[in-house]
Amino acid sequence: MNPKLSHQLAVLLCIVPSLIIYDCTAQEKNVRPGINNYYYDAQFEQWLSTFESPGREVFDQKQIILQALQIKPGMKIADIGAGTGLYTIPMAQQVGETGLIYAVDISIDFIKNIKIRAKKHGLKNVIGHINSQTEIGLPPNSIDMAFICNTYHHFEYPLSTLKSIYQALVPGSQLVIIDFKRDPDVSSSWVMSHVRAHKKKVIHEIESVGFKLIDDKNLLEKNYFLSFRK
Ligand SMILES: C[S@@+](CC[C@H](N)C(=O)[O-])C[C@H]1O[C@@H](n2cnc3c(N)ncnc32)[C@H](O)[C@@H]1O
Repeated sequence: MNPKLSHQLAVLLCIVPSLIIYDCTAQEKNVRPGINNYYYDAQFEQWLSTFESPGREVFDQKQIILQALQIKPGMKIADIGAGTGLYTIPMAQQVGETGLIYAVDISIDFIKNIKIRAKKHGLKNVIGHINSQTEIGLPPNSIDMAFICNTYHHFEYPLSTLKSIYQALVPGSQLVIIDFKRDPDVSSSWVMSHVRAHKKKVIHEIESVGFKLIDDKNLLEKNYFLSFRK
């Protein structure tokens, strides 16, 4: 081969892979900067009445939601954005001693108090896990269900976080998302300004990392209830 041509080829072979690697590791843009500022130093007691009082749909309809999840004894579930543990505790009771609930949250105080709460209920199957804004940080193939209630709209790096959820789920298992409908006809002005994406966009984002929508339950008035399969 012409030496000049072979030199150009060698240069190209060096540059192209490094460009590909750069592209793969490029940082996702923060889609909602600042939305979690008040959660990083959240005080559990202060938020308990906000999350667990009548008038909040996911509190009022807790039994209907739990029934729809069809949780079986022995399941390993991640409650992502567990908050005060509204769902962590009953889920831990449902999966029983052979199952496990990972309470995953960015807030240290929420996780600390969920563990205290679990102990008070005599539950030994709750593991508290503090995660970062870009990943849930659970091992690959470690969970049978990922449950995200009123938290997806708080993900600052949704694609990166979703990829980590995908990896943590065992093949064939489910991701369930409950979040506010963002529709000017039914949503409050608070929801319209606080929640960045409507249901269709959320489905598109979740399917873009490899999940498949398998159910869209018409169960709640102010929230949608979506199930995806890995
Ligand atoms: C509105 S609360 C919902 C709490 C609980 N799921 C419920 O419905 O009662 C949102 C929670 O998500 C947490 N959070 C925000 N971004 C998160 C992320 N990327 N990963 C895990 N938790 C997150 C917050 O700290 C907060 O506890």
